[in-house]
Amino acid sequence: MTLVPSVVDEIDLPEAQRRIEAILKEFLHAKALEATAHGMPPLAASALSDFLHAGGKRLRPMLCVLGWHAAGGAADPPPAVLQVAAALEMFHAFCLIHDDVMDASDTRRGRPTVHRALAGHYAHSRTRQHAARLGDAAAILTGDLALCWSDELIHTAGLNAGRLTRILAVLHVMRTEAMYGQYLDITTTGTPSTDLDRALAITRYKTAKYTVERPLHLGALLAGADDNLLTALTDYALPLGEAFQLRDDLLGVFGDPSVTGKSRLDDLREGKHTALVAIALRDATPHQAEVLRRLLGRPDLTEDDAASIRDIFTATRARAQVEDLISQRRENAFRLLDTPTVITPCVLPHLRHLANATTRRTV
Ligand code: IPE
Ligand code: IPE
Ligand code: MG
Ligand code: MG
Repeated sequence: MTLVPSVVDEIDLPEAQRRIEAILKEFLHAKALEATAHGMPPLAASALSDFLHAGGKRLRPMLCVLGWHAAGGAADPPPAVLQVAAALEMFHAFCLIHDDVMDASDTRRGRPTVHRALAGHYAHSRTRQHAARLGDAAAILTGDLALCWSDELIHTAGLNAGRLTRILAVLHVMRTEAMYGQYLDITTTGTPSTDLDRALAITRYKTAKYTVERPLHLGALLAGADDNLLTALTDYALPLGEAFQLRDDLLGVFGDPSVTGKSRLDDLREGKHTALVAIALRDATPHQAEVLRRLLGRPDLTEDDAASIRDIFTATRARAQVEDLISQRRENAFRLLDTPTVITPCVLPHLRHLANATTRRTV
C-alpha cells in the first residue's frame, strides 16, 4: 500500500515527493563535499545519506505538504514549503537513529541500524566491545548532525521573518514533545505494567505529535492558517497518530520482519511498556501474568519465548483490543473529515486515504 494516492485532483503529491527527495539528496551531497574539503570524517554524512535512501514512508513531509494545501496553499507548493517538509524527514532520521541506539535495535528498513553499520565499519581495527561503543557514539553524533541539519534546512528555506518566527514556535514545541515522549518511553522500559493511560500518553508524545499533528500544522502555517484550522487538524491528527503508533506496536510483535524491515523481538526483549502489554497484563490469568513478567525484558528472549508471549497477547484478547483502539481512532479521524470543516475540500480525500494507509499498514 502506498501512502501517496494516485487520485490527485490538483494536488500532485508524487511530484512533491520527488522534489523533496531531490532536496535531501542535494543537501547531503553538499555536506559530504564540505566534509571532504575541510578534512572532516566523511562517514557521518554518508551513513546518514545511506539511511535516508534505504527507504521510509516519508509520511511527515507528505503531511506537511497536505497541511499547506489544507490551508488553501497553491497547487504547486513553493520550494520553501518543500524544504520545510524535507527538514521534517531529516528530524525523523535523527529520531530513528537515536531510537535504535536507545532500543538496542539491530535492523531498520531491512538493513543494519546506523550504530550497527558504523560498529561494523570499525570492527577490523578494534575489539568487538570497543567497536560496538564506537558505533553507538558515532551514531549519536550522526543523529545529532541530522538534528542540526534539519534546523539548517529550516533556516535556509528562504522564509520571510514572520513565517519563520511562527513555524519556529511550533518546531520548538514539536522537538520537546518528541524528546519527552522518548523519555517517558525509556523510563518505563523494563517495567511494564497495567497502566494503559501511561502507555497511550507515550504513544501520543513519542509519535503522534511529531509524526502527524505538527507536520500538518507546519505546512498549514506556511499557507497562513488560523487557529481554527490548526484545531481541526489536531482533531484529525492526534487520534490518527496514536493509531499509527499502536499499529507500530502490533507490527513490532506480530509483523513480518521481511516486510517491516525491523525485528519483532526488540520490544519484547527490551520490555517495552506498550498498550498491548498493559492490556495483556490487566486481563491475564495469574499464570499468564507470571509468564509475561518472567519473559518480558529478557535480553536473551528466544523465538519460542516470543511465540508464548504472542499466544498470551492473543488469548487475553489484548491484540484484538489494540485493534479496537486503532479502529476507534481511525473512525474519530474520519468523523472529523465527514463533518463540515474549515479544511480545504480537495485535501479531504488525501487525508481519508492516509487514515486508512497509516492504520491498516503492514510496513
Ligand atoms: C517509525 O516511523 C517510528 C515511529 C514513529 C512509529 P515510520 O514508520 O514512519 O518509519 P519509516 O520512516 O517509514 O521508516
Ligand atoms: C517510535 O519509537 C518513536 C520514535 C522513533 C521517535 P519506537 O521505538 O516505538 O519505533 P520503532 O518500532 O523502533 O520504529
Ligand atoms: Mg525503537
Ligand atoms: Mg523506541
